[in-house]
Amino acid sequence: MGLISNRYTQLVGIEHPIVQEGLGPFRTPKLAAAVSNAGGLGTVSMPGMPVNLDEGARTFREHIEECASLTKGPFAVNIPVGIDGNGKVLPFTDTYIRLVLSMRRQDASLARKLTVMTTSAGFPGPYIGIIKDAGMIHQHKVGSTRQAVKAQEAGVDVVIAAGFEMGGHAPSKMVHTFVLIPSITEAVDVPVLLTGGARDGRTLAAALAMGADGVAMGTRFILSEENVDWHPAYLQALLDAQEGDDVAFDGVYGPCRGLKNAASARLVGHDETAHLDAVEATRWKIESMQRAQSEGDVVNGLVLTGQVASAISSLIRISEFIPAMAAEAAAVLEGLAAKISRAPAPR
Ligand SMILES: Cc1cc2nc3c(=O)[nH]c(=O)nc-3n(C[C@H](O)[C@H](O)[C@H](O)COP(=O)(O)O)c2cc1C
Repeated sequence: MGLISNRYTQLVGIEHPIVQEGLGPFRTPKLAAAVSNAGGLGTVSMPGMPVNLDEGARTFREHIEECASLTKGPFAVNIPVGIDGNGKVLPFTDTYIRLVLSMRRQDASLARKLTVMTTSAGFPGPYIGIIKDAGMIHQHKVGSTRQAVKAQEAGVDVVIAAGFEMGGHAPSKMVHTFVLIPSITEAVDVPVLLTGGARDGRTLAAALAMGADGVAMGTRFILSEENVDWHPAYLQALLDAQEGDDVAFDGVYGPCRGLKNAASARLVGHDETAHLDAVEATRWKIESMQRAQSEGDVVNGLVLTGQVASAISSLIRISEFIPAMAAEAAAVLEGLAAKISRAPAPR
């Protein structure tokens, strides 16, 4: 049992309330396994939206199998829920969710490790029942208190509360963590994870103080020694980022946070892909993101990152970092408790 054991760590069966959240459309099987092996919860990310979805499903399957081969688990998958202009769920979401459920049905040993499904972006309504029936823990990422309440009422097990400073697709309501998390933890009974801006034990302690049960991080884990699948130029661009170097541009599912560069400038204010149809524009954006990550084109590719990159200047080793982060959070909370002096009770 870890130092900070709570209803979330017990629900998911992990040692520390620290999650590596989905980082699609990029490769994260090794990263996810490293986080799970260190006592947190790692997440295999969605592999993008190729024209041929069978190809996407093949890649996703390979990533899941790779992660499973590297850890005893538990680990998660993240699948954003894409919604078209008529409110219909996009085919990639349906294909990927059904793939995960079928892989688990066919392989009992995988099913024992791959126990968590995290949905994000659109509302996962039609899938909540089948994810639950498959016996998975369902986490859903939201950017507003209303969405959190709706997700809980629909049967989601864990709410991930996403503040606007987060990396990648950020909530369209643009509410920052310090405002959003206490509102959500007050409004729902299910466990809540903070996502957006967390980076160390102090920020984990702050999340717990706001009523959250843990943190889900993206940027902090990208910048790790174990993240060998990403181009070094991508990592260096994040390490070099200073305050004010990030921007929210028009992404695939609403605003998306990344670095200011030539690619994001094309999508800020006047979206140069606006003349393309929705699927083409989405594909352009996803391919631009993948170019940055796999080829290291950090000028003409979209470099997604959270604002917290400006506060990070070196790589971590995940196996040491996760236990140390939990220990730091515990020490911060104990230190604060020790500073409280109450007036002696009147006689
Ligand atoms: C490069 C990158 C890719 C991301 N891709 C996804 C994704 O595919 N699905 C998703 O739900 N969130 C995605 N996110 C958001 C993260 O899961 C997480 O919520 C976010 O990084 C938290 O903010 P932080 O970067 O300040 O830790 C992405 C974030 C980054 C930085």
